[in-house]
Amino acid sequence: MALKITVIGTGYLGATHAAAMAELGFEVLGLDVVPEKIETLSRGEVPMYEPGLEDLLRKHVAGIEGSTGRLRFTTSWEEVGEFGDVHFICVNTPQKQGEYACDMSYVESAVTQLAPWLRRPALVVGKSTVPVGSAARLAPLLTKLAPAGTDVELAWNPEFLREGFAVRDTLHPDRIVVGVAGERAEKVLREVYAVPIGEGSPFVVADYPTAELVKTAANSFLATKISFINAMAEVCEAADGDVAKLAEAIGHDERIGRKFLRAGIGFGGGCLPKDIRAFMARAGELGADQALTFLREVDSINMRRRGHMVELARETVGGSFLGRRVAVLGATFKPDSDDVRDSPALNVAGQIHLQGGQVTIYDPKGMENARQVFPTLSYAPSALEACRGAHVVLHLTEWSEFRELDPAALAEVVATPRVLDGRNALDAATWRAAGWTFRAMGRPRA
Ligand code: UDX
Repeated sequence: MALKITVIGTGYLGATHAAAMAELGFEVLGLDVVPEKIETLSRGEVPMYEPGLEDLLRKHVAGIEGSTGRLRFTTSWEEVGEFGDVHFICVNTPQKQGEYACDMSYVESAVTQLAPWLRRPALVVGKSTVPVGSAARLAPLLTKLAPAGTDVELAWNPEFLREGFAVRDTLHPDRIVVGVAGERAEKVLREVYAVPIGEGSPFVVADYPTAELVKTAANSFLATKISFINAMAEVCEAADGDVAKLAEAIGHDERIGRKFLRAGIGFGGGCLPKDIRAFMARAGELGADQALTFLREVDSINMRRRGHMVELARETVGGSFLGRRVAVLGATFKPDSDDVRDSPALNVAGQIHLQGGQVTIYDPKGMENARQVFPTLSYAPSALEACRGAHVVLHLTEWSEFRELDPAALAEVVATPRVLDGRNALDAATWRAAGWTFRAMGRPRA
């Protein structure tokens, strides 16, 4: 009989995983403790912007005309315990307030709430990003809290999806990594990820700590790559070199590769910044903090980029923001997402506002979330409106919409045609040809 799957936590990770599991043909029950989220998802709506996710959801959510009906949502732990053979834990592990360590309370709560309702042989699979050692700590807790005699096992199966590509990354992962302590867990997970999801994807079986570390190591490597190229951008600026050309040239070496070498205002979002900090905190607890001191530098190079963009903008408008209008294009931490968590763009906008600049923001999908974080900033309904009267335009999130802007039309509405490209994504020649003073981070002024 086909395995029945539950997904606990229905944020980016959980909602996408649940829909992907239904797409593979499994019966799926998703749980969230927030009733409004469950109501939204049950109507086939996604509470965030993620390309392709709503279509996939509507294809499977029960009660929607023409759907397979394989996907349902609930707030009941009892229902989840009765329903599932495999329970995926997809809850958040945010950074703790004022600390580097990550907050494990949602994962712990998921395990403790689920365990007493497990009624038959069950595999509980953590997908959340957790500090190494978590699975080994949670496994005995799960066994202790499950009804006596119930056969329960824990596995850890980190998720590598990117926002904006969540559906594609889930259905066609680069690799599947499973951390197990027993053979049954591996067998069940091989069944879950059998073709087509596993087709062509390496299936790496490891122990708990290695599987947990794979995720934090991968994110640390990516963050390091970005901070490396941003450090090169600092040197290029000092030496009048061109970091984009440099990145292209070193990227031709296959050992280095071309990806994740775009210099700019740095990385943000709900993962990379908090994951490297949590990794440092955990290494400290393990007495291995020296091994990760370089991540402190990765973090500080990254944060410096935001300050540097503010300085460039201030210099561009004549040394002070007072009485100056600043147009900010982009609020989200990356394009094709409405996520503004730890967004470099929004941080730069906020700093300029605090220094007395009149900031107007436009973002294709992130306005609502940005408004919640910074209600005092101004928001415009289009890029053109945001630029009206501006003394400088800052391009801070590389939405494709911004690459398609007509610089000549924008030049008509600004006070002074000066643009700073914080993402190295605009075509300098086109902007300059339309009369703009164009400057990009880590590149010659021209
Ligand atoms: C990341 C990992 O890529 C993913 O595997 C993991 O599961 C979750 O964390 P995500 O946070 O969605 O995914 O974004 P990602 O595409 O990695 O970008 C992170 C940040 O780095 C963004 O702010 C982006 O603008 C920035 N970035 C990325 C750069 O500044 N330069 C680059 O070359 C690439």
